Amino acid sequence: MENTKTVVIGVTGGIAAYKALDVISRLRKENVCVHVIMTKSALEFVNPISFQTLSQNMVIHDMFEEPRAWEIQHIALAKKADLLLVVPTTANIIGKVANGIADDMLTTTIMATVAPVIFAPAMNVNMYNNKIVQDNIKKLEDYGYDFIYPTSGRLACGDIGQGKLAGAEEIVEIIMSKLYPIKDMLGTRVLVTAGPTIAPIDPVRFITNRSTGKMGYAIAREAIDRGAIVTLISGPCHEKVPFGAKVIRINTNEEMRAAVINNYEDTDIVISAAAVADYKPKCYSSSKIKKSENELNIEFVRDNDILKELGLSKKKQILVGFAAESNDLLQNAKAKLLKKNLDYIVANDISKADVGFGADDNKVIILSKDNSPIALDKMGKKQVARELFSLINKKR
Ligand code: CTP
Repeated sequence: MENTKTVVIGVTGGIAAYKALDVISRLRKENVCVHVIMTKSALEFVNPISFQTLSQNMVIHDMFEEPRAWEIQHIALAKKADLLLVVPTTANIIGKVANGIADDMLTTTIMATVAPVIFAPAMNVNMYNNKIVQDNIKKLEDYGYDFIYPTSGRLACGDIGQGKLAGAEEIVEIIMSKLYPIKDMLGTRVLVTAGPTIAPIDPVRFITNRSTGKMGYAIAREAIDRGAIVTLISGPCHEKVPFGAKVIRINTNEEMRAAVINNYEDTDIVISAAAVADYKPKCYSSSKIKKSENELNIEFVRDNDILKELGLSKKKQILVGFAAESNDLLQNAKAKLLKKNLDYIVANDISKADVGFGADDNKVIILSKDNSPIALDKMGKKQVARELFSLINKKR
């Protein structure tokens, strides 16, 4: 791989500032040229000498002072950058950029660059969930800025929740894939199902499950990044639609089935990441069920097994299923692989709270008909998607 790319790293003032060192060290191992800009408050947390030593370049932290050179620094770096990464990203810097404030070296460089800018936030969970911060993130995403979302866990302040800087390994993976995009799926037609389905009981009530759609949306995003033509059939969820995907929104199992069958023939790869309800109420009440003194019993009947149906009528398509299991993971996943005539099944253990349903990370084992299972480490869902497609594409 020819590695002559330049990444400008902005370090802002958060407790996770020291973690930027690991990111830089990993990028240098990949032979990426790194320039570091520190904000004034970042200097309160870490010493620029460490960044200077690892990046092997002068660290810039003041617009009007060192290092003195004939070039206008923020313009020079803005031009030199193939990518700009802000790690860690504070609520403050998000707010500044979202509102067009450019009052120091980092913000002026961000403003002056035409290279992709990626923010990797890390902050207290309440701060991260603050409506102003979330609105600013949304605004920046709409402008085309990228985010590597923080993960959940125990935060520096002792709180537990989303706000932990994504792992250095994941951040570097994402940066490398932006610098050297893999386009091994140009023209490949991929159909992804994501999120939950709902089964209505009456006009105001339904049953559903805890799927948030994160895994399916990450898969759709990865397929688009690799050049695929993606149709995303999605149950109700709040994930941001990947730019370039054709999205078909559905609610029920029946609606998902219809959308999937309609698109099946032309599809090369189907990834069924949706948590499809297996049962629905036997009778739908068209008027609201009123309470009475008696118990309420709702009878459920089996609904379509969409993926099984696809397996039965499979021609050229590669079929990938997901198996969320709370016990006998490998055994149950293997049985589903065979029963549904799949090429791959991605098995995950849902008994762990920090991975799987609703989490940003996943820890999966990929099974296929012919090869031994591949167990992946715990990683971000986008990275799981990347590993999955790398495996599928190697074999097709
Ligand atoms: N699936 C589907 N239609 C269903 C149920 C599941 O297409 N009615 C798909 C899912 O998208 C997933 C795979 O089949 O890719 C496995 O789903 P899962 O619910 O784990 O398997 P089931 O066969 O339904 O088995 P069980 O619920 O008993 O674990």
